[in-house]
Amino acid sequence: MPSKMWSVVDLLDWTTGYFQQHGIPNPRLDAEVLLGHLLKKSRLQLYLHFEMPVFQEHLTPFRELIKKRIAHTPVSYLTNRKEFMSLDFYVDERVLIPRPETEQLVETILTAETENFQRLLELGTGSGVIATCLAVQHSEWEIVATDISESALAVARKNAEIHACTAQIKFLSGDLFEPVAAICANGDAQFDWIVCNPPYIKNTERDTLRPDVRDHEPEIALFAGNDGLDVIRRLIAEAPKYLAPTGKLILEIGATQANTIRTLLEAESAYATYKLFKDYAGKERIVLASVP
Ligand SMILES: C[S@@+](CC[C@H](N)C(=O)[O-])C[C@H]1O[C@@H](n2cnc3c(N)ncnc32)[C@H](O)[C@@H]1O
Repeated sequence: MPSKMWSVVDLLDWTTGYFQQHGIPNPRLDAEVLLGHLLKKSRLQLYLHFEMPVFQEHLTPFRELIKKRIAHTPVSYLTNRKEFMSLDFYVDERVLIPRPETEQLVETILTAETENFQRLLELGTGSGVIATCLAVQHSEWEIVATDISESALAVARKNAEIHACTAQIKFLSGDLFEPVAAICANGDAQFDWIVCNPPYIKNTERDTLRPDVRDHEPEIALFAGNDGLDVIRRLIAEAPKYLAPTGKLILEIGATQANTIRTLLEAESAYATYKLFKDYAGKERIVLASVP
């Protein structure tokens, strides 16, 4: 960045061009979000202060953000912020950045007919967005949220604190159902819902991913064996043991996995019914299976 007196608009124009040269997909948007983050202004406020000078105290950290962005660090890790279901969440490299398609998973649960009190288990909570949004919407629900990554759980706890629902969510660490096996052993603490947005990318697809994802998001949150189904297979097989009568398993799945998942569910006699839901692009991305 050349040495000169910079205004907001000059800086945005220069950064947009620089991001473009480096193949950053949304150069103007990223420039605005990063500068707004640093100056503590919304994008609209930046437009209202286009001619405002930007001084060295902000230029130096802005240069650092630019460097990290051209190394494909996702914007959300640079701002430590991601909006999900209209709530603000803290994120960093310990967790997957919540995706818009996962909002549909939460909406499907919220629109299902449910009785007042529900006991819900979220496996692989990551940043905790699913468990936290459900807790915010239903303060009467009892929620257990788990993850195999202790460092992800630290982020999830932070988000539960931000949204004042730590008392409602019990966080446990461990491999899939292992942390709840003891609670459920006597059969009287089973769940009405088991929800999971599992890792479902094939190991062999690593090279096809955008560098933002491949080089920065946690591997454990992305990959699930050679066919991407290592975690989903276990979820489908093990969930019935932990579901209350008429309990439901709801999962986000990969865009090409629906048919294999139908086969897995049909082979599992514990399920009474199942349904797949399409996303806005017409792909079946949510599966909801119920036990009798
Ligand atoms: C795709 S991310 C989903 C994160 C968050 N729930 C969301 O929707 O944004 C998958 C999460 O599952 C966790 N995970 C992966 N394998 C697991 C396992 N065997 N047991 C428990 N959690 C696991 C990862 O650490 C990661 O946080």
